[in-house]
Amino acid sequence: MLVKAHAKINLLLDVLGTRADGYHELKTVMQTLSLCDDVILEPAPAISLAVAGANLTAGPENLAYRAADLLRKRTGYRGGAAVRLIKRIPLAAGLAGGSADAAAVLCGLNKMWHLGLGIDELSFLGAELGSDVSFCLWGGTALCQGRGEVVTPLPALPSAGVLLVKPHFGVSTADVYQRYDTLASPNHPDIQEMLTVVKNADMSGVVKKLGNSLEQVTLALHPELQLLKDEIATTGATGVLMSGSGPTVFGIYADPPSAVRAAGIVKKENRWVQATAFYPENNQKVGCSGAVIR
Ligand code: C5P
Repeated sequence: MLVKAHAKINLLLDVLGTRADGYHELKTVMQTLSLCDDVILEPAPAISLAVAGANLTAGPENLAYRAADLLRKRTGYRGGAAVRLIKRIPLAAGLAGGSADAAAVLCGLNKMWHLGLGIDELSFLGAELGSDVSFCLWGGTALCQGRGEVVTPLPALPSAGVLLVKPHFGVSTADVYQRYDTLASPNHPDIQEMLTVVKNADMSGVVKKLGNSLEQVTLALHPELQLLKDEIATTGATGVLMSGSGPTVFGIYADPPSAVRAAGIVKKENRWVQATAFYPENNQKVGCSGAVIR
């Protein structure tokens, strides 16, 4: 069984405050991208994991392994699965690569093991693994609240090209959130206006309303990200923003070929550059309902 594990960007992320459990209360609009890892699942007596395409440990601490283990424990399923990840989404990038893999394992094994869990039950389990796993199970365009795990699907946006650029360093999400708490005057992008333009499928409104409370923190840690944003803005992008806790910066373009052209312009040795697009592009099914290929 092949399951596509799609990356995401945050079109808007507002941090509302801290919570008793140490996490931060969020309101964020997430968007699935075409860029994906492949997750290959085969029946096996026990759970095993292999990773290709990234320098990532394949032990029991890997989120994909933990997803399989959690699903087995919670349902009492007695068999296992050989899980293979073919990574294309960079690590520690703000693109939810690990969460996408975990979501793909949950929805693929739910089918392969004939468990019959619904998306709400999978989403509940996913939230134990990470704040973005629930969104990755839903996919498409969604408002995510709570820690990020309370997902309200939104209507699909029109097609758009996306350029992703990640310098060759990662950031720790936990560190970025901790530093956010020390900001004297944090930014609060306007989620209500973003929701209005998304519901109207108004892409020119969406690119005007892009915003991310965490950008202030990661840009202060890595000032070169502002230069990168400026550079992307000169390639025909209609909007530019950092995704999640970063450090990936994205540009949005009128169409996918424009993002491909921009990728050619900004390509350099010392960065990862990828042209992609909003997903779905043509009425494909999203998230758990569309991810399983065979
Ligand atoms: O949930 P996830 O494992 O992706 O989160 C990584 C870290 O980011 C958490 O341990 C926490 O420090 C921080 N975080 C947060 N508030 C959120 C999501 C993540 O403080 N809503």
